[in-house]
Amino acid sequence: MKKLLVTGGAGFIGANFVHYWMAKYSADKVVVLDALTYAGNIANLDSVKDDANFTFAHGNICDQALIETLLVEHGIDTLVHFAAESHVDRSITGPDAFIETNIIGTYSLLKAAKKVWLDGKSILAGHRFHHVSTDEVYGTLSPTDPAFTEDTAYAPNSPYSASKAASDHLVRAYHHTYGLQVTTSNCSNNYGPYHFPEKLTPLVMTNILHNKSLPIYGDGMQIRDWLYVEDHAYGIDLVLNKGRVGENYNIGGNNEWANINIVNKICQLMNQAFADNSGLAQRYPEALAAISGKAESLITYVKDRAGHDRRYAIDATKTRDELGYEPRESFETGIARTIDWYLNNQRWWASVMDGSYQECVHQQYDK
Ligand code: NAD
Ligand code: DAU
Repeated sequence: MKKLLVTGGAGFIGANFVHYWMAKYSADKVVVLDALTYAGNIANLDSVKDDANFTFAHGNICDQALIETLLVEHGIDTLVHFAAESHVDRSITGPDAFIETNIIGTYSLLKAAKKVWLDGKSILAGHRFHHVSTDEVYGTLSPTDPAFTEDTAYAPNSPYSASKAASDHLVRAYHHTYGLQVTTSNCSNNYGPYHFPEKLTPLVMTNILHNKSLPIYGDGMQIRDWLYVEDHAYGIDLVLNKGRVGENYNIGGNNEWANINIVNKICQLMNQAFADNSGLAQRYPEALAAISGKAESLITYVKDRAGHDRRYAIDATKTRDELGYEPRESFETGIARTIDWYLNNQRWWASVMDGSYQECVHQQYDK
């Protein structure tokens, strides 16, 4: 039985991970530490909040004393670190929070883990510090470059990816210098339920429902590898249970799409959903383009993201060969499940959007 501290567990991937873990390992204790920034939402944990094995702690990962207290009081042996500022566009307009949370916050967690697990009277055997990172640390690829492996040199291009790269290096150093038992996973773009609607896929779904334009940065030919969020949780599960300490593992979906193609795909599926279910037009009377089967008409090309990485692609051979990892959800079923979730959870996405954030983040793309 494990006792987990999950940082950022009220965010998109963290909450999906907590749902996954508590359903699969129901005897494990799970403590979520989350600052509840704009991206964190306690309602994401509604389905587990009454479970006797679940505890929520509201706080900041930069607060080392708080983390030490949580590690000791709950007898934590496994720390899964999701908490981060995660949106590239925000890192361009305001990098400070990314440096603070992603670098200083990770450093504070490492210091607390070292103090409690390694520096006490005895070393806690079998402890694990798992760091959740991103493929963006490897930089950008041309259309013909081979995909990123774990040996690809780091070359981060945005303040977000630079701050994640710095945190990855700190995690590595705490293993090599102090013997902290760490693992790191570098994952591609996730999609699925509870995804904050500033990121491409949920933004497109919710904007269609509001009949708002669908902004495509630059020529829309940037490529991302898309993975259903539960498959990210599954990959981390395998790393925690079978991964070698001190190693990095790539997690990806073998599923590369140009942005314009994935947006067109979502438009087609939304058109189809409205055509198949006449009740949707009553629930979403504003969704005029989707009601008339023309959601694509909302696509609008806007100024490109500064320093926009052209292509990410993951080679997850090591994770497959060592841990037996393969994504379990196909893109067809995963995107259908996601659209269905957004259509049926208007209260969730309406409540996490305060009406001003999209304008605020997107004003940098006004032509
Ligand atoms: P998110 O922005 O949806 O959630 C981040 C969570 O961290 C929120 O609940 C927020 O309240 C919390 N948080 C932020 N600052 C905090 C602080 N200082 N102290 C405590 N909690 C804080 O992010 P996400 O998309 O769920 O990403 C989770 C992790 O996965 C991040 O580390 C990100 O870099 C990584 N990742 C994300 C993706 C993706 O596609 N979204 C892909 C690969 C890796
Ligand atoms: O690759 C993993 C990364 O994926 C994670 O580390 C990040 O936390 C996560 O946010 C995501 O980063 P991206 O920048 O790839 O995701 P985003 O959804 O912001 O954008 C996806 C692509 O779509 C990117 O090429 C930018 C483009 N885009 C995005 C938005 C929000 C648009 O063209 N229009 C938009 O409105």
